[in-house]
Amino acid sequence: MKYFIANWKMYVGLEKSRALAMQYAGLVLPQDVTGVICPTTLSFTEVSRAVAGTNWQLGAQNVSWTPEGAYTGAVSAEFFREAGARYTLVGHSERRYIFGETDHDVRKKIMAALSVGLTPILCVGETADDLASGKRQYRLKKQLMLALEDLPNADRVFIAYEPVWAIHGIGSGIACLPADVADIHNWIKEEVKQYGISEPTIFYGGSVNAGNCAAYLTLPNVHGVVTGTASLHPAEVKSILSFLATC
Ligand code: PGA
Repeated sequence: MKYFIANWKMYVGLEKSRALAMQYAGLVLPQDVTGVICPTTLSFTEVSRAVAGTNWQLGAQNVSWTPEGAYTGAVSAEFFREAGARYTLVGHSERRYIFGETDHDVRKKIMAALSVGLTPILCVGETADDLASGKRQYRLKKQLMLALEDLPNADRVFIAYEPVWAIHGIGSGIACLPADVADIHNWIKEEVKQYGISEPTIFYGGSVNAGNCAAYLTLPNVHGVVTGTASLHPAEVKSILSFLATC
């Protein structure tokens, strides 16, 4: 199984999300490809309606770790599940570095997601400063450890390697070299064994598009891609899906 994750971030509001979802609904997912749309919370129900009857699945971009109650502005994992989510991103770089989410928060969100049956997609990635100061592995090791050590059902957590510097907007928009992605994914596979994850599902994210997706999706430990900017363009999505059909 390969995965295509579309993270629409805060790029499109209600009307545009509805229109985009209807275009997605017309794109057939190849066999053995899981496609997950992560719309804004506000558009979630509309997108869900637009893709009803297709194989597209839904994911949250972020969840609260608290289940319900007096938590202004928060949306719980259970609320997302009730609205049709099967997945949730957790600890995306924009959450960590713009909104100040800590490794501790990330762990609580993973636990909240697992407790209601959502598959958490744990995002990890080093910053440009980490890279320049030789701390890439240190950062990844720490993020993985604080999220997964002694975590019950850790094998149900998916992992997305998303170097912060490679993401459009928060980073440079220059994708990580496929050779580096190959090395990091191989390393992550070994690293998470200690947390009871023997066959991890690992995605790459960071400036993936139709032109470069093949270089990642043909690597042995790359089980899918997370796309932000490219996911807003149905023609790009269609090309990526066509390539996935050949994998
Ligand atoms: P990008 O975003 O494709 O726009 O770089 C990827 C991500 O943040 O998941």
